[in-house]
Amino acid sequence: MTQPLLEISGLDAGYGQTQVLRGVSLKIPDLARVGLFGPNGHGKTTLLRAISGLLRPWSGQITFSGTRVDQLRPGNIVERGIVHVPQGNTLFPKLTVGETLSLGSYARRARANAKNNLDLVLTLFPRLAERRGQLCGTLSGGERQMLSIGLGVLTSPRLLILDEPTLGLAPRIKDELCDAIRRLSEQDMPLIVVEQDVEFLTGLADRLFMMEHGSIVLEVPPGGRLNHEEIMALYFGQQAETGEGRTLPRSPAPVSELGESHVGGNDGS
Ligand SMILES: Nc1ncnc2c1ncn2[C@@H]1O[C@H](COP(=O)(O)OP(=O)(O)OP(=O)(O)O)[C@@H](O)[C@H]1O
Ligand SMILES: [Mg+2]
Repeated sequence: MTQPLLEISGLDAGYGQTQVLRGVSLKIPDLARVGLFGPNGHGKTTLLRAISGLLRPWSGQITFSGTRVDQLRPGNIVERGIVHVPQGNTLFPKLTVGETLSLGSYARRARANAKNNLDLVLTLFPRLAERRGQLCGTLSGGERQMLSIGLGVLTSPRLLILDEPTLGLAPRIKDELCDAIRRLSEQDMPLIVVEQDVEFLTGLADRLFMMEHGSIVLEVPPGGRLNHEEIMALYFGQQAETGEGRTLPRSPAPVSELGESHVGGNDGS
């Protein structure tokens, strides 16, 4: 087998005394489009933060293109091509869209492709071109997400990580963003996308991972037989509801509120 792009083995991590990630192991080949989903508070963002060096793992290994990265600083990890677009708004409100875009190709590895990457970003998100002079603090939620993803693309990633890019968006703008992410996934750019909307992920990703209580509890490989309804049934432990948008409900059981005895279990909530 050729070398995986990203390999994680036995990863434990948490905050203070609270363990969140519990023996996470997964392997992602180059050019993979990965979807990660699971209940709220069960460790998805924590896993992404460990991959991008924002959280130092307690134990285990993260290898990117054959090199251990779990002890590197976030800046070194970005220089190696792992680019994490975090959950929520992290733009500078007093910078304009144009100024923010010009920050995107600052990373050394991004400079050679700056023009092509900018063309791609403006093709995916034409609104950003229209709003070059506007302050980021006055953009709508959807426009902020477009700019955040655009900034990630400008960094010329070898692995682009998007954490809940459509969170809290109205349906129309969410559809627009999902469509742009789908077109981005056709650019030979490896992706990890965390989303609550499993139906969107099944259409986007060529492999899916489900995280529960800080562990990967389900992997659907490429060509995996599970369809959306079956995944939802596994997710809820019962026949899935197929309500409008099929967006997963918020879970009442964040991992930090669970005792050790719940590790790896399914409380069925
Ligand atoms: N900085 C922090 N300090 C302490 N606990 C934290 C911190 N960040 C997250 N947690 C806790 O770690 C657990 C996992 O959180 P995480 O953000 O990884 O979940 P998530 O699966 O991404 O949830 P969501 O779907 O709501 O984004 C939660 O119980 C959360 O409260
Ligand atoms: Mg999260």
